[in-house]
Parts: sequence; structure tokens; C-alpha cells
Amino acid sequence: MTIDEILKAATVIPVLEIEKLADAAPLARALSAGGLRVVELTLRTNCALEAVNAMRMAAPDLIIGMGTIRRASDVRSSLDAGAAFLVSPGSPTDLLEVLRKSGAPSLPGVATASEVMAAQDAGFRAMKFFPAEPAGGIPFLKSLAGPLPDIVFCPTGGIGEEQAPAYLALPNVACVGGSWIATKAMIAAGEWATIERNAGIAARMKIRA
Ligand code: 3PG
Repeated sequence: MTIDEILKAATVIPVLEIEKLADAAPLARALSAGGLRVVELTLRTNCALEAVNAMRMAAPDLIIGMGTIRRASDVRSSLDAGAAFLVSPGSPTDLLEVLRKSGAPSLPGVATASEVMAAQDAGFRAMKFFPAEPAGGIPFLKSLAGPLPDIVFCPTGGIGEEQAPAYLALPNVACVGGSWIATKAMIAAGEWATIERNAGIAARMKIRA
């Protein structure tokens, strides 16, 4: 799949942190039952790589990306684990080069105009705006639409169910990401019904409704 196809399938991307491998399958089923198609699993727990396969087996319709990609070895291990796309919190030059060379659909993380321009020079047109709320939120994205009209963003960081629709109304937003759909606490407590309900609300949100 291309990054454009993945972004088309996603309006809201849940950002997930899985501590226990056993939680991967019920979590995947709850998100899928709620109607979401695209998820970002963060590479910050010991079982994250194994969880990709467990989620795929449990919910084959999910498109599972790996987030928190920080270095070249993360790119390799995530693709080996079966990640369908890659997301990074920032865009160091070396990482941009490794992501580009990998050919994997990727959303490099950016938070300034200079970072957007560097990522664009490296060949990317779609980027994660992180951390969205602390780094300027909606006014920042509106300001970038003039000078950098050909870039689309997936804002993530500090966004909840209340803020998401206003982001999705912006012309340069392709989707939004956030952990509110399935927080660490909800996953640890096995609150699959709550997660399915949150996923359902997120899945019904529309781009530029
Ligand atoms: C991420 O890794 O993208 C963030 O931790 C998600 O941000 P949020 O928890 O503020 O939604």
C-alpha cells in the first residue's frame, strides 16, 4: 500500500502502547469491531514487535503501522515484524534517509516549518505533526497551509475526542492520531467494550465534514 492509500483508509488513527502481548488480540478485535481500519502501535514496549503479528491474526482487516521509530534498526525490525507503515516522532536527517531508502509508507514527525521542508526535500509529502497541541495545534497548521500547500499532516499529541473534529476540518489534515481511543489504562484494565465504543465514535468522524 502507498501512504496515500493508508491515509485514505484512516480518519482517526489510534496510537497504542501494549504492555502485555496477550492484550494485542482483544485490542485489535475491539478497534476493528468499532470500525477503525488503521492503527499505530508504538515501539516502546518489549512486546511491541510481536504484537504486530498477534493483532494481524486477530483482525486481518487492520492496517498496522509502527510508531516511535527513532533509528535505523527500528525501521528494519518493524518491517521484519510486518508493520505496514512507519511513523517517527521527529525527523533527524539520517532517519529520513533510512525511511526513504526502505520504500515503506512513512509519516516522519515534524513540528516546525524547517522540519517540514527538510522532510519534503527527502521526498515525503505526508507527515505526522507531533506533538500537535503543545507545538501550536490548529493555528500552526493553518499558518503552514499558505507557504507549504502541498503537504498533508496527521496531527498527533494532546488531541482528544473533543478536539479531533476541528483538526479534521482543516484542508491540510489527512487524519488525526491519538491515544484517547485506547489509553494504556484502558488496555491494562481490559476495557474492550469502552475501546470499541471509542473506536466507533472515532470511525464515524469525517474529513472536512
Ligand atoms: C504518540 O506517540 O504519538 C503520542 O504519545 C500520542 O499522543 P497522545 O497520547 O497525546 O494522544
